[in-house]
Amino acid sequence: MTARINPSILAADFVNMERDLHRIATADLVHVDVMDNHFVPNLTFGPQMAGRIQDVSPIPLDVHLMIDNPEKWAPGYAELGAYSVTFHAESTTDPVSVARRLREIGARAGLALKPGTDVEPYLDLLAEFDQVLVMTVEPGFGGQSFMPETMPKLQALRERVSQTGLDVWLQVDGGISEKTIAIAAEAGADTFVAGSSVFGAENPALAIDTLRREAAAHKHTA
Ligand code: DX5
Ligand code: ZN
Repeated sequence: MTARINPSILAADFVNMERDLHRIATADLVHVDVMDNHFVPNLTFGPQMAGRIQDVSPIPLDVHLMIDNPEKWAPGYAELGAYSVTFHAESTTDPVSVARRLREIGARAGLALKPGTDVEPYLDLLAEFDQVLVMTVEPGFGGQSFMPETMPKLQALRERVSQTGLDVWLQVDGGISEKTIAIAAEAGADTFVAGSSVFGAENPALAIDTLRREAAAHKHTA
C-alpha cells in the first residue's frame, strides 16, 4: 500500500463544496472535520452536512470528530455511510465501546490523540481500532504549524503495530505539507491529512500527487 492522502475540506470553499470535492477526486479519502465549539473552540458542521458530502463525494469519507460525547454522536456518522469515523480519546471514558459500535455499523473505527495526550494507555487497545490519528497540531483550526515533538508517539505506535501484525492505519493531521510529510512518513505514518497544502495549491490534484510521492519516498523502515 502506498501512502494515503486525505485532503481536509476544512480548507475548501464551503459554498462550493461539491466543486471542491471533485477537485480532490484522485485522493484516497476526503477528511471531514466535525467541530462542536465545546471539545474545540471552533465550530464547523454536523451530520446533515456530512450526509450531503457523502451523497456527492466521488471518494469515501474519513470523518474526524472533534466533539464531546462521541457515545451519542459518532454512530450517526457511521450510519450515514462514512468509511471511517475517528473520535478523540480525550472526549470519552470508554473508547472501546464507541469503537465496537462503529465497527458493528460497518465503519472503520479511529482513535485520535491530541498533541499532549500520551499514547501509552492506548497501545494495548490497538486491536479495537482500524486507525489511530496522531494530531500534529492542536485540534480546532487549519493552517497551523506541524509539531515534530509528536513524532515519538507515532514511532511507538508503528513499533507496536509491526510487533503485533495488526492492520491499523497510522494517520497524521495538521501542518502536513510537501516540506513536513517526510518527517511523519519516516516516523511511521501511512495516512496523511492535508488541508491548506492541498486546497491552497493552484492545482490540488498535483499537490496530492506530490504529497503521495514524497511520503512514499520517505516510507518508514524498521
Ligand atoms: C485541525 C483539523 C485538520 C485541519 C488540517 O483541527 O483536524 O484536519 O483541517 O489543516 P492543515 O492541513 O491546514 O493543517
Ligand atoms: Zn482533522
